[in-house]
Amino acid sequence: MEFEKIIPIVVLCLFFASRVSEARILSDEEDLELERQLKLINKPPVKSIQTEFGHIVDCIDINKQPSFDHPLLKDHKIQRNPSFLRGQTKNGDLSQTRSSMIGLPRGACPLGTVPIRRATKEDLIESKLLLKNIQPQAAKEFNRYRAYLQMENITNYTGIEGNITVYNPQFKDGQTYANMYVHNGMEEYINSIATGWMVAPGFYRDGSSHFFATYTNDGYKKSGCINYMCPGFVQIDDSVYLGAALYNVSVVGGNLFQIVLSLQQDSDYNWWISIEGSVVGYYPAAIVFNLNHPNVIGWGGVADSLSNKNSPPMESGEFPDGIDNHASFTNIQYRNQGNTTLVPQSTHYQIINDSPKCYGLKYDGDKGQPLGFTFQFGGPGGQCNN
Ligand SMILES: *[C@@H]1O[C@H](CO)[C@@H](O)[C@H](O)[C@H]1NC(C)=O
Ligand SMILES: *[C@@H]1O[C@H](CO)[C@@H](O)[C@H](O)[C@H]1NC(C)=O
Ligand SMILES: *[C@@H]1O[C@H](CO)[C@@H](O)[C@H](O)[C@H]1NC(C)=O
Ligand SMILES: *[C@@H]1O[C@H](CO)[C@@H](O)[C@H](O)[C@H]1NC(C)=O
Ligand SMILES: *[C@@H]1O[C@H](CO)[C@@H](O)[C@H](O)[C@H]1NC(C)=O
Repeated sequence: MEFEKIIPIVVLCLFFASRVSEARILSDEEDLELERQLKLINKPPVKSIQTEFGHIVDCIDINKQPSFDHPLLKDHKIQRNPSFLRGQTKNGDLSQTRSSMIGLPRGACPLGTVPIRRATKEDLIESKLLLKNIQPQAAKEFNRYRAYLQMENITNYTGIEGNITVYNPQFKDGQTYANMYVHNGMEEYINSIATGWMVAPGFYRDGSSHFFATYTNDGYKKSGCINYMCPGFVQIDDSVYLGAALYNVSVVGGNLFQIVLSLQQDSDYNWWISIEGSVVGYYPAAIVFNLNHPNVIGWGGVADSLSNKNSPPMESGEFPDGIDNHASFTNIQYRNQGNTTLVPQSTHYQIINDSPKCYGLKYDGDKGQPLGFTFQFGGPGGQCNN
């Protein structure tokens, strides 16, 4: 059975990753194992595109994408549209918002194919390092600082959305995220999906801000990964792909650019990621089987640092300054079991800020149209463990 093969690979690679971080030398066996894994996730392309950011995107037959190798998706019927979007037009009028450009031009991938960012051996190694850091119980090779607006246990959440301002903080070590998430379960076996943008020079080997998504069923112990590093996410859109770089980024005191993101459950419990109102793809219920009734959602930032290094900047790199137009998240909303769209009210949320010395979060609540419910988060980083 395929499943038995996949598990040892992940375990092995976590092991490899920990060794590789010390000395980036692979034995022949380790090398072969990575080659084998690469073959599993890099499918024969119908067409390949070299992006201007340096990475390669393969156009893969939509029915032959790597996720359909997952044993839990053997009998899966591909969904082209979430049930909640059927009958609606795909794109709203975004002429009023300055949205960052992202993805391939429409039509770059031939009809019937979807863009999947090609993985390299280095990507696999580095992605295990990222996950190691996310694992709540993992050895602390990294420090992780969160600045989150989080909601718990009010309802079973069925959706979360918001417009995230995109910046492009520059640094060498660690990684920084701006994202939203749904969680369920105990910390060490957490079930989770997260999506947003991130800068991770180690993993992407560039300083760009990248659109990303992660999932796990067990606190990243054996299941889950980032982007397409393991089977899981089903790609539907022919333009925006996970790991794509964002073309336009905000500058403090200058132009602001955002991405409009939503993570929504359909009536079959699949979780859909949409950007600018357009569906990117979904995590099938069979894969994220413990997220039918998530009890935690949140928005905000995370900064990871190597234990002896400076922590990277988060979001704009500045502490919240209370100026409306500097909001990091606007129009934040969530949905409950009854599909009602709601906003975080004062009694229902908590603010998690692991290092007030380095990062901040200020919730502004309702700013009226067009900003809606907003908050600011971020900070310069530095030496954060007091
Ligand atoms: C919520 O929306 C989904 C998708 O449109 C629909 O199938 C489901 O019946 C709705 N649930 C409720 C309680 O309205
Ligand atoms: C929410 O539920 C979880 C699991 O049932 C529990 O551990 C946690 O303490 C609850 N949180 C709050 C704020 O009630
Ligand atoms: C969430 O869903 C579970 C499973 O259906 C149910 O037992 C629980 O009562 C629900 N919780 C809330 C707060 O509605
Ligand atoms: C966004 O980036 C694209 C590609 O670099 C550029 O052509 C476009 O002018 C930028 N948009 C704005 C509003 O600056
Ligand atoms: C946020 O996204 C919504 C939905 O696409 C859009 O209509 C709105 O203009 C955006 N809001 C802001 C403040 O940019």
